[in-house]
Amino acid sequence: MHGFSYKNGSLYCEDVDLAPLAAEHGTPLYVYSAGTILDHYTRLDAALGSIDHEVAYAVKANSNLSVLRLLANHGAGFDIVSGGELFRVIKAGGDPAHCTFAGVGKTREEIVYALEQGIYSFNVESEEELHYLNEVAGELGMIAPAAVRVNPNVDAKTHKYISTGKSENKFGVDFGAIADLYERASKDLKHIKLRGLQMHIGSQLTSIAPFIEAVEKVIPLVTELKARHGIEFWSIGGGIGIIYPTALASGTADWWENQPEDERPLTIERYGKELVPRLKDLGLKILLEPGRYIVGNAGVLITKCLYEKKGSAKTFKIVDAGMNDLIRPALYEGHHEIVPLVQPASDELIKVDVVGPICESGDFFCQDRPLPEFQPGDYIALMSAGAYGFAMASNYNSRPLPEEILVEGATATIVRKRQTLEDLIEGEL
Ligand code: LLP
Repeated sequence: MHGFSYKNGSLYCEDVDLAPLAAEHGTPLYVYSAGTILDHYTRLDAALGSIDHEVAYAVKANSNLSVLRLLANHGAGFDIVSGGELFRVIKAGGDPAHCTFAGVGKTREEIVYALEQGIYSFNVESEEELHYLNEVAGELGMIAPAAVRVNPNVDAKTHKYISTGKSENKFGVDFGAIADLYERASKDLKHIKLRGLQMHIGSQLTSIAPFIEAVEKVIPLVTELKARHGIEFWSIGGGIGIIYPTALASGTADWWENQPEDERPLTIERYGKELVPRLKDLGLKILLEPGRYIVGNAGVLITKCLYEKKGSAKTFKIVDAGMNDLIRPALYEGHHEIVPLVQPASDELIKVDVVGPICESGDFFCQDRPLPEFQPGDYIALMSAGAYGFAMASNYNSRPLPEEILVEGATATIVRKRQTLEDLIEGEL
């Protein structure tokens, strides 16, 4: 589900009318639905319900402190990729003992910080990193809990920039090299405790097949590692895809969940139904690292139309959000549904390009897309922008970062102030 729907022709987030909210707070404006975040978290947790598991939310998708606090308060663990993300989790009240630390390039400072905070596991991406972790832990007189990331060489069938589980990707250690590595590490690396195995084959997977392929391929390996080295967990990563056209236009946000099972994209129930039977008898704690699934459909980016420019080839709607605020269309050809905050009287659709103010031709949110009519002064929402939206925003073109609001029922709370011009130059000499 998601918490965005029209009521009497106005787009609401839960019980908050978005057009007056945008007028009050200004645009571009990110708005998140707390109810949707919790619904997704709870449903994923329930789908894995019968096995020993933990949902470690991938902080990179949306690292706003209030989002992290919401999830921490409901028992989530966290998958982090930097010292900065660990700092945020701790500030938000998350427990480092429920944090896993991924990433191919951890620095000494990050390793020391994470060791001192007592994280659950370093998810190590190379033999070199494992040796370095051993060395740093040794200097501190500590034992570092670790899992190696296995690269199962499975095609996730997603955009090439977010595919991670093939041998040509920089991530993880080759499937065939893992058993030997654990053997050597358990003998030679006295400051490492091999606690688990990790994998993550890619992001925005909309079919169950690659998940099944990877899990089935790795089961014999993880079983062997448990028998020989007593590992206790297996993180099967994140990657669960979401539906970007959220079907608001069809009148019900959940229509796709009611489609016949083989005609609809991956649902969380299907994910649980296919994977749980394969995982339940391994005697391992199963970790999940979902980012997009939890927050993607829980957020929108609201922007105001500034100008309509009728060129000889196209009609451009120029809006006040740019690729610096939401880079997914420019970087991954990402599709975000675009809807007006106030539904127009006519059903007519007009083909337009919605573009931002940035001085780059890649600064568009859609091209030649039939959209309902909207005019300068009107607000539109870029849907499904809760994951990798604000988190990837930048100050490019010296544009202040947008404000973020979290909605809970009828209450809208500012969870990050809009940057000011002074903020833009802070720290510069
Ligand atoms: N675990 C690891 C080790 C990861 O690298 C990622 C995402 C996740 C979990 C969470 O994946 P998710 O459940 O969100 O698919 N910026 C891109 C997505 C990059 C994903 C990077 N890694 C986008 O906007 O599509």
